[in-house]
Amino acid sequence: MVRNLVLTFFFVLSFNTYSSEKFPAGAGTTLDLSVNAFSHPMAGTRGMLRRYFQTGNSFFKGAWVTAPSSTPLRDGLGPVFNATSCTACHFLDGRGRGLPDTDGPTDISLLFRLRQIKENGEVIEHEKYGGQFQPHSIEGVKGEGEVFVKFETIIGSFADGETYELKKPNYIFRKLSQGKLGDTTIISPRVGPQMIGLGLLENIKEEDILEKADPEDRDGDGISGRVNRVFSVVEQREVLGRFGWKAGKPSLLEQNAAAFVGDIGITSYLFPKEECTYVQLDCEEKKTKSDISKHLLNRVTEYTQLLSVPVRRNFDDPRVKSGQKVFNQISCQACHTPSYTTGNQSKFKVLNNQKIYPYTDMLLHDMGDALADDIREYKNEAQATTREWRTPPLWGLGLIKKINGHTRFLHDGRARNLKEAILWHGGEAKEAKENFLKLKKSDREDLIKFLRSL
Ligand code: HEC
Ligand code: HEC
Repeated sequence: MVRNLVLTFFFVLSFNTYSSEKFPAGAGTTLDLSVNAFSHPMAGTRGMLRRYFQTGNSFFKGAWVTAPSSTPLRDGLGPVFNATSCTACHFLDGRGRGLPDTDGPTDISLLFRLRQIKENGEVIEHEKYGGQFQPHSIEGVKGEGEVFVKFETIIGSFADGETYELKKPNYIFRKLSQGKLGDTTIISPRVGPQMIGLGLLENIKEEDILEKADPEDRDGDGISGRVNRVFSVVEQREVLGRFGWKAGKPSLLEQNAAAFVGDIGITSYLFPKEECTYVQLDCEEKKTKSDISKHLLNRVTEYTQLLSVPVRRNFDDPRVKSGQKVFNQISCQACHTPSYTTGNQSKFKVLNNQKIYPYTDMLLHDMGDALADDIREYKNEAQATTREWRTPPLWGLGLIKKINGHTRFLHDGRARNLKEAILWHGGEAKEAKENFLKLKKSDREDLIKFLRSL
């Protein structure tokens, strides 16, 4: 009896503890706040699962080499590629910086999706460069070229008169192997995002995401929110998109397999074709039959599903609490949905029925001209248009500086800090941005303190 009481007490205690917002990933939240804070499996991952995680980790971090080699499990790089390892763009499971401080070559972690508008208005992958620009290549094959950035300064001010400066990136493609990209090309820059809590995002119930979608803006709040519908090669049908800056990938398995082939040049049973176009004859000639096995792709996928989210810092600080109030008052939460209880469909128990705090609605929003890929409005990733982006989760943002040594945010890393990330908001988030501009300085600072505590 006493024992039962004690057990009940501990159960209630731990239940309450982990359902607090201090633990964004619920019971699996990691308590480590070192530079490795993003690299832990969900708390409680033991035994065989832990070994799977470690194997996945090793194939995520390790570099791939040209085939044939003495390490056949890790060869098959290229013929064209962006980087030789996953970690090159997701360093320490964090995010890339994307852009340099001043005009110059872009960072390896920034990749470019390419689309071409056909005469009949149809949008296809670029005929000569494919769906993604790959600057690098193995010996005997031409890399596709180089990308430089030239910044343009945008000046603005808060209602209280304080001024700010934003740096708008303009991308310049040089040394192009197959000639000019052409006027009908749509370029979409994307920086490698952080890898934490992805298995939990995958396990958010579809009905909970659909509930917040409001494509026609029926409630008239100026915020619509659409789901992306994408073709799943696994399920051979259209399903809800969840991953990537435009929610263009339906699952971590497909996202990872696409990353292997698109970013590193490693084919798999899901994507067996190398990224060589009909004009890239050298690429075609040098391609190898070296795939990542289904088994190892699964290990990498389990790795990405199990990465935890760190515990909140300064959670009880009154200014953090006041910043959270400001966040809700000025409608940031209209898209950055604070919380969900995950579903129960994952094979990993620690991902099921967890109260989580990711701060995303997983929906696409028109974010205005300044963030758009192109002034021409076309669908350039499944249902997502050139103006639309998926609300990114905000958990972990405050640790990027420690882990990755920079504070760059947004889809191409153009925001140099959290304040700038908000200042770039437009389109459906225009009102929230304008509310931010009207805040008094101490409220603005509290809001940033709150974001840093996530
Ligand atoms: C050249 C840089 C680069 C490399 C290398 C790279 N990624 Fe990524 N990764 C990105 C970018 C950019 C995105 C966002 C893609 C998009 O918007 O479609 C991304 C997105 C992801 C996501 C989805 C995250 C989310 O929040 O939606 C996962 C998972 C992922 N990558 C896994 C991998 C794996 C596994 C590898 C190695 C096989 C890898 N990545 C290699 C740049 C990279
Ligand atoms: C209409 C929906 C919407 C509203 C309202 C909104 N956001 Fe966002 N937020 C987004 C989207 C979409 C992005 C990604 C845009 C991009 O990368 O181009 C984003 C990006 C961010 C980022 C950068 C995240 C990252 O991973 O780089 C921060 C920080 C952020 N928002 C904070 C806020 C705050 C604070 C507010 C309230 C002032 C707010 N947002 C209001 C949709 C919204």
